[in-house]
Amino acid sequence: MDKKVFQPIEIKGMKLKNRIGFAPLLNMPAGDDGYINDLTIRWFEERAKGGTALIMTGAVGPLTPRVPAQPSILGLKGIGLYDDKFIPGFTKLAEVIHSYDASLGVQMAIGGPMGGQGPSPPPYPDEKHPTDDLFFVSAGVRIPGREVSVEELERMESDVAAAAARAKAAGADCVELHATHGGASLLYSFLSPYYNRRTDKYGGDWEGRLRFPVETLQKMREAVGEDYPILIRISADQLLGKRGITIEDTCKFIVPALEKAGADCIDVSQGDMLRAGEGITIPLYYPRGCFIQFAAAVKQVTRLPVIGVGNIFDLDMAERFLQEGKADIIYMGRQITADPETPKKYFEGRPEDIRTCIGCLGGCGRPCTINYDIQDNPIPLTPAKKPKKVVVIGGGVGGMEAARIAALRGHKVTLIEKDSELGGMVAALALTPLTAEFRNIVDYLATQMRKLKVAVRVCHEATTADIEELKPDVVIVAAGSSPILPEAVRGKPGVLTHAEASRRKREIGQKVVIWGVFGAELAISLAEEGKDVILLSRAGEGSIGSDISTARKWYLLRKLTDINVPRETPEAARVYNPEVIYNVDVADITVEGIGVEVKDVGKKVLPYDTFILSRRFGERKSNDSLFEKLQGKVAEVHKIGDCLQVKGIIEAIWSANEVARKI
Ligand SMILES: Cc1cc2nc3c(=O)[nH]c(=O)nc-3n(C[C@H](O)[C@H](O)[C@H](O)COP(=O)(O)O)c2cc1C
Repeated sequence: MDKKVFQPIEIKGMKLKNRIGFAPLLNMPAGDDGYINDLTIRWFEERAKGGTALIMTGAVGPLTPRVPAQPSILGLKGIGLYDDKFIPGFTKLAEVIHSYDASLGVQMAIGGPMGGQGPSPPPYPDEKHPTDDLFFVSAGVRIPGREVSVEELERMESDVAAAAARAKAAGADCVELHATHGGASLLYSFLSPYYNRRTDKYGGDWEGRLRFPVETLQKMREAVGEDYPILIRISADQLLGKRGITIEDTCKFIVPALEKAGADCIDVSQGDMLRAGEGITIPLYYPRGCFIQFAAAVKQVTRLPVIGVGNIFDLDMAERFLQEGKADIIYMGRQITADPETPKKYFEGRPEDIRTCIGCLGGCGRPCTINYDIQDNPIPLTPAKKPKKVVVIGGGVGGMEAARIAALRGHKVTLIEKDSELGGMVAALALTPLTAEFRNIVDYLATQMRKLKVAVRVCHEATTADIEELKPDVVIVAAGSSPILPEAVRGKPGVLTHAEASRRKREIGQKVVIWGVFGAELAISLAEEGKDVILLSRAGEGSIGSDISTARKWYLLRKLTDINVPRETPEAARVYNPEVIYNVDVADITVEGIGVEVKDVGKKVLPYDTFILSRRFGERKSNDSLFEKLQGKVAEVHKIGDCLQVKGIIEAIWSANEVARKI
């Protein structure tokens, strides 16, 4: 076991058994009024049981039950530590975590401009509106900002220190001060010239802007004593170019000051929740490990242990970063959410059993698209009372998940797929570069088919005759859905469905028109290939990303519209904006092009080489004819996924579990 990721490390007396930490995620279960409850404990316990050495809580409120505004916008409850009454809950949590030889850290945050309070009031630089940014655009609310007073700052410093002392008293092994993510944090917004225009002692030069975080650290130190580890999380680069904090600023001014003020470990994150959210809730469009260079830069200027984070989904990558000296500890957030046993499976030499995150940001906790067990009351996975003969029709992710669960329970499973490969629509989507991470769930499930000895038959469209011959006790129909071809496009040249375009069934020409906002990611990928792309939306502005997570939507909006473009990040250099036409309907297709009707504008003809149908939900139909035909022919017939209702990956995976755990 000479791998670095297995090696222990010590931070001021806190012994971590390996180098993997669970990154702080706000989306943890909590009781009413900010108490830790049984679900909170189960949530963290599963991660400790799975082999993670350091379990860091998501941001808890040292001043209020909620980190201001974040949970209220996101609809989360939040956990408090602003009163001694919370200590027993943390004590119970610490005991459980310790029983797995893991350590517990408590992250503490004070909300910043995003929550309506900042070093200076808005407007902030370059804003078209006092609080104009994608966060508020997506959240649909604007929180007015106000400047915090010196008296408030002094009180907050003492309150955070008192909360740190409570964490220690409860038996937590360390605390982490959240001074990161731009407008999400009051501490970070004091550091940043972007938010801080004060002229008093808490503003101005670096000494002034560092004062609030430094004083807070010093008061925490007084409260917890010399021998207790205090970690601090910073955005090493705010991702706003010279308008915000750059990595050079961090290395030159911030890290030395924090080290001097008594920090024991630097947790290196990046981005700004208000203006560069892609650093925090990182869309799958970014490469794995894309922000590790910031941890590596910080490591050059400090002797303190450094934590690296960001889109690190596999432990081989974690190992490489540790070997290369880019970080001393790796935080994994979404991966350990998707599969809490990630470290354990890796350490046991069976990485193929790890269910790798697909980066969809579809909940990252509650729910998680690919982890059915994450919810409060999952149907338990128990051995079948009587092993049955089960046939699953359709080898998409829903069908494979149903087969996996049924096989795990001891049923004898056959899976029939009409195509030559498994994965269905998700496998097709994974061929688009922007959504390539979707491949992870296809690969995981396909591997499990082999390991669980599911009899897989491909290139065969199942019929009632097959079922009559196989004589199963249970049939699960997971045959997916098909696009409804509108009259205007039938039989017209150059028309491809979304799946056909993703699979490049036919060559895609230079002039591409995509009908339906489901095609936004494909539109960007094709534009990045150098095609001229027009995306048509039947609905108005705001329809882009209406069916995906906010963080993905931010990115799509930025790529597809003029909001916040151009940006001073390296990514900006890669911005190719497909043209988007809203409120449009396709009337006909002629030799001249696609005839469209744009609301308040009138008719237009768009020349095209390829026309892609990327419409969704109401514009696709379930392939459920076999389900109907099998009624009365088999003892139990179920339908799942798109075959049940045309929806997304999560519905496919979850409906598969709901059926396969009961048969
Ligand atoms: C849903 C969600 C909630 C988060 N909550 C917090 C938080 O409370 N505090 C924090 O410092 N970072 C938070 N983050 C950032 C994560 O700690 C982590 O840095 C980020 O998810 C990137 O790591 P990953 O790619 O391993 O998930 C959150 C991220 C997500 C996706």
